[in-house]
Parts: sequence; structure tokens; C-alpha cells
Amino acid sequence: MTQLIPPHGGALKDLRLAAEAAQAARQAAVEYPSWDLTARQLCDLELLAVGGFSPLDGFLGQADYQRVLADMRLEDGTLWPMPVTLDVSERFAEGIAVGDHVALRDPEGVVLAILHVTDHWRPDFDAEARAVFGTDDPAHPGVAYLKEQSHPVYLGGPIEVLDLPAHYDFPHLRMTPAELRERFQRSGWRRVVAFQTRNPMHRAHVELTFLAARQAEANLLIHPVVGMTKPGDVDHYSRVRCYEHVLKKYPEQTTALSLLPLAMRMGGPREALWHAIIRRNYGCTHFIVGRDHAGPGKGSDGEDIYGPYEAQELVERYGDEIGIRMVPFRMMVYVEERAEYAPIDEVDETRETVMNISGTEFRRRMREGLEIPDWFGYPEVVAELRNTFPPRARQGVTLFFTGLSGSGKSTIANAVMVKLLERGGRPVTLLDGDLVRKHLSSELGFSREHRDLNIQRIGFVAAEITRNGGVAICAPIAPYRRTRRQVRDMVESANGGFIEIHVATPLEECERRDRKGLYAKARAGQISGFTGIDDPYEVPEAPGLTIDTTDCTPEEAAQQVLLKLESRGFIALD
Ligand code: ADX
Ligand code: MG
Repeated sequence: MTQLIPPHGGALKDLRLAAEAAQAARQAAVEYPSWDLTARQLCDLELLAVGGFSPLDGFLGQADYQRVLADMRLEDGTLWPMPVTLDVSERFAEGIAVGDHVALRDPEGVVLAILHVTDHWRPDFDAEARAVFGTDDPAHPGVAYLKEQSHPVYLGGPIEVLDLPAHYDFPHLRMTPAELRERFQRSGWRRVVAFQTRNPMHRAHVELTFLAARQAEANLLIHPVVGMTKPGDVDHYSRVRCYEHVLKKYPEQTTALSLLPLAMRMGGPREALWHAIIRRNYGCTHFIVGRDHAGPGKGSDGEDIYGPYEAQELVERYGDEIGIRMVPFRMMVYVEERAEYAPIDEVDETRETVMNISGTEFRRRMREGLEIPDWFGYPEVVAELRNTFPPRARQGVTLFFTGLSGSGKSTIANAVMVKLLERGGRPVTLLDGDLVRKHLSSELGFSREHRDLNIQRIGFVAAEITRNGGVAICAPIAPYRRTRRQVRDMVESANGGFIEIHVATPLEECERRDRKGLYAKARAGQISGFTGIDDPYEVPEAPGLTIDTTDCTPEEAAQQVLLKLESRGFIALD
């Protein structure tokens, strides 16, 4: 372990072992118990390893942890507002004693680090939530993580790092604290103001950073978080493409972009203080804290969990200790008369018009394919986001037909498929019940378990087709409600539409048609477990569409489906 003394930013930890020592540790690790790091732990490990979390040299022990909770300090008095802990399962912890070594592995099993265990204890998550987040409301993502995802036992102790977690995306933008410090020094950047973000950058953010750089007479570092952010945020691949567009808006040689593999906790004030300390470690001299920094959103009572400027107040209070200066900002708004952005406290709202588009409104406009005004976003950024969040007419969609054997599912599904192919524009795949049973589920029978497996496979394939912007047309019997709901959940979490279509042709009519002769066989007892005869069919409770084919032609039925697709915005009929 080495300590570098860089030009600014204070002492920097580097917990990586040199190549030879790492090789020896790798061999020794064969004997150690192994813990597979979670996604959040991987992020924490990386920041620990490269000194982003200096002065920490590992996961917090119990005494440090208690003091961090109580007064934002380590045992030795150093300011540190956020617990960085290693949570493990009860079963794993049982075999671990103080003094043991633990091999910490990535998801592929590569040993990334060795933990020297100094502490293990059972934390009180409610107390931790209240101390760190000021609430135990599970609507707070940081609290929800503690209560729903965190393992029950914490292991603490210093770590030695053999390898950093692998990243194949944007390697040219992933600079460590030492690398950034070196780059600043090389470029003669004595003052650098860092901008934290977990969102795409629009004009308001760019204006904010322009102003901040001017006020601080500093160069600018755009330092977005790409580790873990708030659930539901725009994925980091899309965001980084947006940042690369935005970078071109700054005068050349004034601004740098680097990615921070941090796992955010959405801890508002404490998190802002933590962010400032981290940016100090990355060699910055100034740090922007705007409105609602690292805000978790609303609590269960519908009220904002933190006040919009609470983060600024806390950072201000510790301003003398953190080794980096805050550049605070009130909310940036667009002033119509001036045709420019300004902090809200510099606007006279009795004489000037303030304009803003909320995140919710922005997402609605994207979904509906509506225009985004130029004063709000850069066209390149909006275009990038339109690719990621296409309007309904370009999203994938699953049409899920369900109904009795012989009800007309396959016939309508085929007609709809052909109509969609005739229109063009989207790839279409038909997952017909009989075809799936032939190609995907040939080993399965008709027990409840096998029927469920069959439908789950269809759901998996449909979700993948939908994710990639295609139309998946499914036409199985799918007699069970619960399984149909599972498929809906799978498809919807693939960012696409799901329309359930109940082909509700009555049993008597299906049996009268008996196009495959199966009803006759079932009645004669030659086959058993036949849906509608001696096996249940649970009627859909709230289908998107119900079609009874008793008195309607396949063309008419297909037309109803197309109209449904149109009314939901998935196709534009002309
Ligand atoms: S955060 O969770 O990373 O804080 P976000 O990416 O939205 O969320 O914000 C990044 C930084 O920009 C924060 O310091 C935030 O306070 C600031 N910020 C974002 N939008 C505005 C705005 N309209 N006015 C002032 N500050 C803002
Ligand atoms: Mg069929």
C-alpha cells in the first residue's frame, strides 16, 4: 500500500497490490472462504481500491461505523458521513472469525480483493436508516436497499486489492483519482470545479456549470455517476453518449469528462458531503451543489423527504473541514424575456416569466413523441434519448392471445401477423401454441407445472423480442391467471407494451367446430387433462381486448386487434 502526496486533494490511498504481491495473494486466496460481491459492493470496492474513498482503507469496522452513524466521523475524528460496509449472509458469517481472511470475488469468480476481518456484527438497519437518511421510510431508495437487499451481517476490516472490477464500456473515460490529479497538473488546471450528476444533461445543467466555472474561476470536471443511481434512472450508456454531445458545448481545453463508478445511496445532505469529499480525492478544488442534490424523491406521505437546499446547508456547515469548496446554486430556470437561464433568486417573478419542464413531463413528451423545446434540451441529447425511449409507435409490444383450444387464437394471430408484415416497420414473430410446443417445449406435457413452464418460456422469448423493438404475437391456451401475470411483468420490465387478448369463444362453439378432433377424444376419455373438459381455464379478469369469434370473421377479429394497437399508440393507422 502506498500513499501519494499529490498537488491538491490531500493524501490518497491506493489499496492495489503490486503485480508480484497480487500473484502471491491470489495463490493464498485458494484457501480462504469466498464472498461473491454484490453490485453495490463491487462499486464500493473500486472506490476504496483507487482512493476515491480516502482515507478509508477497507470496509468500516464496528467502532467506525457507530461513530459515522452518530456524528459523521471515523473513530479518529476524521469527517466521513456515509457507512461503507460489507454485508454478508448469516450462513456465510457463521464460518468467519476475527483474524480470518476472506476472498472477495466478482460475479465471474475472479478474486478481486482480500479482506482482513477485524469485526463482524449484526447492524440495526432501522437505526442506520434513521441516522444516515433521517428516516426509516422504505419509499427512500437507500432505506429500501437496507431493508430489502442488504444482508444481515457486516464484516469489517482493511482490504488488499488484486484487480479492479472489469469495465469494457467507455475505458477512455474512466480515470482514477491519481490519473485525474495527474491530468489536471499536466494541463495546469489549478482550480477545478466538479459537477456531479446521475441524469442526462440539458441546457439548465450546462448553464449551471458555465456559471459555476466562471464564479470559481476554475476549469470544469463533468463527473457523472455510472455505478448505481436511483432505480428507474436513465441507463448510463445512454447518459454517457449524451455527456459526450454536451462536452462539445464547452470552450475547448476548459472542460473534462470522467466517469465515477460510485454506488449512490440517494442520501441528500449526507450524500452531498460525501460527494464533496470524493471529489476532493479526485483532485478537484470546488464542487457544485444545486437544488435537491442526491435527492431520493418523495416519501410515503407524498412529501419531499429532504428540503431542496438541506444538502447545501450541511456541506456549508462542514466547509472548513472537507478540503474542497462548495459552489452552491439555487434552482436554475429559463427566463423567457431574457432567453437565458438564471438562478431563481436572481429572477423577479412579478416581471419575468419562468419556464421549466419537470422530469415527469419530459418523460411524457418522450413517450408520446412530442416536441422538446430548444430552450430546454440540446437536439443531439434529445435525439439520443429518443433512441433510448422511442415513442410507443417504435417500442416493442407483445400481443398475448389466450383462450380455449379451437377458440380461434391461431387464426386471428396469423391474420394479425400478416397485417403487420403488410404494413412493415417492425419485425414480427409468431409464438403460436402448437409451434412452441414443437420447437421450444417438445419435452413438456400438460400438467399444471409443465403448462406453466411452457408459458414462462414463451414469456421469456416475447420479452426479448419486445425489448428489441419487435412485435411478439403469442397464442397459447395459457389457462392460468398467475402465469399470464408473470408474462406481463416480464414483458413490461423489458420496456415495451403488453396487450392481453381473450379469445372468448364459448366452449360449446369450440367443441362444435372441433377442428382438430380433440374435443371428441377428450369426451371419449382418450386424452385427459383437456382444458375446458377436465382441466380448468381461468378467465382473464381485465384483458385489453375480448373477442368472441362465434359471429365474426378472422378479418374482423384482426381489425379489432389493429384498432387496439392504434388506440394504445403502438401503430399509426392512416
Ligand atoms: S443528483 O442526484 O446527482 O444530485 P442530478 O443529476 O439531477 O441529481 O443533479 C446533479 C447536480 O445538479 C446536483 O448538485 C443538483 O443539485 C444540481 N441541479 C440539477 N438540476 C438543477 C437545477 N435546475 N437547478 C439547480 N441545480 C440543479
Ligand atoms: Mg392454435
